[in-house]
Amino acid sequence: MNPPKTDARRHHDPDVRGFASDNYAGVHPEVLAALALANGGHQTAYGEDAYTENLQRVVRGHFGPTAEAFPVFNGTGANVVALQAVTDRWGAVICAESAHINVDECGAPERVGGLKLLTVPTPDGKLTPELIDRQAYGWEDEHRAMPQVVSLTQSTELGTLYTPAEIRAICDHAHERGMKVHLDGSRIANAAASLDVPMRTFTNAAGVDILSLGGTKNGAMFGEAVVVINQGAVRRMRHLRKLSMQLASKMRFVSVQLEALLAKDLWLRNARHANEMARRLAEGVRAVHGVEILHPVQANAVFARLPHEVGERLQKRFRFYFWDEAAGDVRWMCAYDTTEEDVDAFVAALKEEMAR
Ligand SMILES: Cc1ncc(COP(=O)(O)O)c(C=O)c1O
Repeated sequence: MNPPKTDARRHHDPDVRGFASDNYAGVHPEVLAALALANGGHQTAYGEDAYTENLQRVVRGHFGPTAEAFPVFNGTGANVVALQAVTDRWGAVICAESAHINVDECGAPERVGGLKLLTVPTPDGKLTPELIDRQAYGWEDEHRAMPQVVSLTQSTELGTLYTPAEIRAICDHAHERGMKVHLDGSRIANAAASLDVPMRTFTNAAGVDILSLGGTKNGAMFGEAVVVINQGAVRRMRHLRKLSMQLASKMRFVSVQLEALLAKDLWLRNARHANEMARRLAEGVRAVHGVEILHPVQANAVFARLPHEVGERLQKRFRFYFWDEAAGDVRWMCAYDTTEEDVDAFVAALKEEMAR
């Protein structure tokens, strides 16, 4: 039962939401209920529990019979462990310059994973075979870190999407050159919901070898999983996860959250809703003269350019981030719990601030 709003232990207003990040949202009530269900009694630690076992069945239902899930604490950890699992000590990762692994992980892939990142500038956060080729060379050159994996993000950090055919073409291109493909699926649910296809269509069916499967942005309290599709990396994963401090002892509480999202359609309901709110927001913003939408709104993010001082005034009313301070670019994220009223109030506030 929720404590009353006046409970002295509550330090925030549970009715206030903003557009800063899908990570600002709380835990979906069905995930909280699943956590309570998994509580009590003793279960074997470190992943030998009944919830993690069941998660394997659920994950195979989504990603095929060879898939194996390795629950971890967070998305950075998932990426760092997954990338190490498909590289040698001299290996390098080709990724978009805007990739989370490059700009938002404090250098963990380099410092913790020991990986060289070979980045490519992209206008929309997406790689293509041609862009990959700017870095895909020199496999025989001992002076250069060896490109061994291409890392894609779906949906991208700029709220755009790869089509399944685009991912297929990238996987074919990478595999022909002896490279593996990793997919950062921190927002994979938003991508599948928007494309209206099962997640497998643009992962295992398209040739992706290893995946960071998101849970947190989709309504979990915390927790993601590395999903190994190409079985070659399974043996490395087990040790790498522990070595990288991502092995939860009470793993049942990570697994049960992912199970709650993925076993039925909660993942899809949450993602569809967040995407729908972003579409509504984009529509509202398009009607405001002087505000430019910067990228196609294909998932749950809206990027826009507006006068800096307007952004600053608006930030006093709603939480969100500047993406590029100098240019006046902002990012507005919707979450599973964003309401139509939130969006409409935000658009009204934007109109007011633009008119001042
Ligand atoms: C594309 C992407 N990958 C991974 C992550 C996971 O990061 P964290 O380590 O904060 O869970 C995020 C979170 O913002 C993200 O946007």
